[in-house]
Amino acid sequence: MCSQRSEQEPVADPITLFESLAKQPLVSSCSLCHSVPQGTVGAFLAIGAEYQSITSHRIGVFLNAATAAQSLLLQKGAHIGPAFNTAQYIAVQTWLDAEIAFRNSRKPELTNSYRLPTAPLAIGDFTMRFGSLAPINDAQVSLTFSLAPAKDDLYRVSQLKLAASPNTSIFIKSPKFYFISANSTIADSANSLDMVELGVEAGSSMTVGSGTVLLSNTPINDPNARIGVAFQIVKRAN
Ligand code: HEC
Repeated sequence: MCSQRSEQEPVADPITLFESLAKQPLVSSCSLCHSVPQGTVGAFLAIGAEYQSITSHRIGVFLNAATAAQSLLLQKGAHIGPAFNTAQYIAVQTWLDAEIAFRNSRKPELTNSYRLPTAPLAIGDFTMRFGSLAPINDAQVSLTFSLAPAKDDLYRVSQLKLAASPNTSIFIKSPKFYFISANSTIADSANSLDMVELGVEAGSSMTVGSGTVLLSNTPINDPNARIGVAFQIVKRAN
């Protein structure tokens, strides 16, 4: 008897596609130069860590495209190095389309969370106010932090502080940084604040967690990118 499959064929995960399809052409045509830095261009095919290396190059610049064909990796063409031949192009494109789709589908758990108004993503100091966020509705209650580049394409949030106002005490749980870019909304993968439950009494301010978070999904190459903070719980504590 022939039974209909009720579930869809599992789609090969991007890492498997990379290893089975894309790695060989990349290694054979590109690694000679790109396993090591080329001038100001950092290595993006580190030997033995090709997948990690190519997906994290310049905070994911190769993945920051709507489709693989628009990625810098496939757009580069002939330069000091060669262009891909057709078979190589198709192999890399197949992996990269799966990789981009996978990353975009990794929707953050932001749907039911409290979110502060987002701000343009930039290096510097931020003040995010709870003025328009129920149940706080008090613009003197704020979350402040500084954002600066850290090593290895990471960005560091420091001096992360929650300030109550003279009239409002606030309680927050599990703050999470996220980014809005042209293609997607991505929660940062840093989970160091997941355990944070912090109450700040009226008139005072407190450091959130250790006050520092390393962000790894920062779409810094997108000039229109915005940064936001979501919370699992935001409550008035008085
Ligand atoms: C003979 C050495 C050499 C080989 C082989 C080589 N490249 Fe390059 N590649 C360079 C140099 C040098 C640069 C930096 C200058 C530039 O951007 O053109 C570069 C830059 C790049 C960049 C820009 C990266 C960035 O961060 O801006 C991409 C993308 C790239 N190469 C892709 C490839 C691909 C794909 C292959 C294999 C098909 C390849 N390269 C093979 C020398 C090489």
